[in-house]
Amino acid sequence: MEKTVFFNGKLIPLSQAKVSVLDRGFVFADGLYEVIRCYRKKPFALDGHLQRFKRSAEGIYMELPYGLDRWREICYELCEETDLGQFSLYLQVTRGPAPRDHRIPEQYEPTVFAYADPVSPEMEYRWENLSKAMTLKDGRWDRCHIKSVALLPNILARDEARRKGADEALWLGPGQVVYEGTASNAFMIEEGVLYTHPLCNKILGGITREVILKVAAELGLEVRQEGKTIQDFLAADEVFVTGTKREIMPLVEIDGQAVSDGKMGEWTRKIHEGMMEYIARDCGLDSCY
Ligand code: PDD
Repeated sequence: MEKTVFFNGKLIPLSQAKVSVLDRGFVFADGLYEVIRCYRKKPFALDGHLQRFKRSAEGIYMELPYGLDRWREICYELCEETDLGQFSLYLQVTRGPAPRDHRIPEQYEPTVFAYADPVSPEMEYRWENLSKAMTLKDGRWDRCHIKSVALLPNILARDEARRKGADEALWLGPGQVVYEGTASNAFMIEEGVLYTHPLCNKILGGITREVILKVAAELGLEVRQEGKTIQDFLAADEVFVTGTKREIMPLVEIDGQAVSDGKMGEWTRKIHEGMMEYIARDCGLDSCY
């Protein structure tokens, strides 16, 4: 059966969703997106994602075409519509079709697209796989807190990682400070303290990041939002990255050097358990799976 998607105000079959070649999303990557994970058809942290969507829109001087209540309804409609069990919702808004001009048009008709995307079985248990990362100098822009569809640097970095046999690439700032991953936030644990980069324009304020900070504090870890270098990460007891799709991904190797004795750390395991309990509670479920 063909997938149903939300496109410019309506639920329609995927094959009928057509975008103009002059769409500013296509021509300039002038658009935004969100990814919301659903567990047993319940969207997790929907309000947090929608608030971030709104902040991203403000950051590019765009008014979202609907209020957050309507976006919430669209998400629930998609959850209702899909026959998938585990999926994420993908929402995208672009500044719509317009003659090609670098200036932002005074008036425009945004293009809206949203659909339910399956979580691959490989992803579902990804967190148990011990993953490898590589590092590279952050050459992205100064507005990484905006969830823009312009992801070419991230895509190229991830491809380089794949070619080097790694699962993720970590962006390094001046002084080799670890900012974040290509699609994840980065954490390290050292002597009972959990560290992650503070919120700023060099990282995306991850929704999963927020959850991890809460869960870790509940578990008795001290939490410090502080920049740490790649050398600190390599010497840390435990390192992991987080994101909506991957939840937690423990890193046991960075640039070919072992971290955490090459094993899953105990705190990482506890945080993952705590996170799954948190999500189930938040979604009103007995368990996430
Ligand atoms: N990416 N940093 C970057 C650059 C990201 O692209 C993402 C998520 C995160 C983690 O944010 P969150 O916990 O809210 O998912 C951090 C999504 C999942 C994606 O591009 O598919």
